[in-house]
Amino acid sequence: MDLAANPYSPGSGLRPKVLSGREAEISAFDLMIARAKLHRPNRGMVLTGLRGVGKTVLLNVLRAHADNHGWLTVQLEGRAEARGRQDVRDRFARELVVAARRHLGRHPGQFFADALTTIQSFSVSVGTSGVSASVDLHPVRAQSGRIDIDVEELVEDLSEPLKAQHSAFGLFIDEMQDLDPDMMSAIVTVQHIAGQRDWPFSVICAGLPNLPTILSATRSYAERLFDYRVIGPLDPEQARYAVARPAKDVGAEFDIEALNAIVAASGGYPYFIQEFGKAVWEVAPTTPFTLEDSRVAIEKGWAQLDSGFFPARWGRATPKEREYMSVMAVDGAGPSRTGELAARLGTKASSLGPTRAQLIQKGMIYAPDHGQVAFTVPGMADFIARQSRE
Ligand SMILES: Nc1ncnc2c1ncn2[C@@H]1O[C@H](COP(=O)(O)OP(=O)(O)OP(=O)(O)O)[C@@H](O)[C@H]1O
Ligand SMILES: [Mg+2]
Repeated sequence: MDLAANPYSPGSGLRPKVLSGREAEISAFDLMIARAKLHRPNRGMVLTGLRGVGKTVLLNVLRAHADNHGWLTVQLEGRAEARGRQDVRDRFARELVVAARRHLGRHPGQFFADALTTIQSFSVSVGTSGVSASVDLHPVRAQSGRIDIDVEELVEDLSEPLKAQHSAFGLFIDEMQDLDPDMMSAIVTVQHIAGQRDWPFSVICAGLPNLPTILSATRSYAERLFDYRVIGPLDPEQARYAVARPAKDVGAEFDIEALNAIVAASGGYPYFIQEFGKAVWEVAPTTPFTLEDSRVAIEKGWAQLDSGFFPARWGRATPKEREYMSVMAVDGAGPSRTGELAARLGTKASSLGPTRAQLIQKGMIYAPDHGQVAFTVPGMADFIARQSRE
């Protein structure tokens, strides 16, 4: 097939040609937008799921909906590295000023222009760059240098003007589990206050399956603050749509067995769907695609995943961490019991604590329950098994 016309897009956060199976989350969010218009309070939303399941893409779609409805939106990404703490503040500062100016352009008026001085103070207080010294700053608001106070004052000062416009402030945060504890706590607290004072403010965040536990540990009331949604693999019908539709839109078809083979091999995981879809497009000499095309494509797709998606994660692990994941892989998709892993490695569970913690911190495993661990990357156990066979 014409390689330039390939309609599949494996990659991080790459918008697929067809977003399949996320209607429930999108309509729940659209309801939030409609409620904000009527000055009704909203909870925040938390999207959690494994790697490559489509959290970032969905978060971007929700943000675009909010933007289209005149919300003031800012998008951040948690970063686990040491400099992530300042990076996220700098980005918040910069993005907020840009968003506010854009918002002011779309809704001119003195009321919001006043709030702009608080935004600028916030940005100077929180960020290290990006705001010119010559802008007007608010004399007292959002400049304490304490992130909890500054975020609260910022949201408070935005609330009246945004309400007057039947709009809201949407803070979109990806990889939320990697946000530093001070910023996480400030944001959760302000979501709580916003609910009590009718401020039109919602945090919409995405992260790994351990995010709800982290949020609850940050503030016990976090459980009630958010609409928690697990973003899982697509069911077979949704997966068939995700595979077949992008091709159909550009005039190509799948034989039914060819389609089913790709759906089965992908396990419904969006990243794998895109990888196998891309491969079938590359290997098929003509349309409709046959079962043989799919078989060749699936093999090619796995080879591609084995040289990109999986090693990108595996390569970040130390030898000790790899050893730990190798004994986890014995349990397939898991979960594994930590005591059992220790026994397999001939050591005590307590001595493996630091390795386990490092792997959680790197976002490669998570704890689905007390005394258990599982991979955050779908298919990781099989990848490790393939590696050790080579
Ligand atoms: N609903 C969907 N239908 C079809 N393809 C999708 C869907 N959602 C995501 N994809 C595709 O899946 C891949 C992974 O998406 P995305 O980067 O959003 O996943 P993620 O959950 O954020 O992963 P990570 O945890 O690694 O950040 C992308 O190639 C994207 O195009
Ligand atoms: Mg992502």
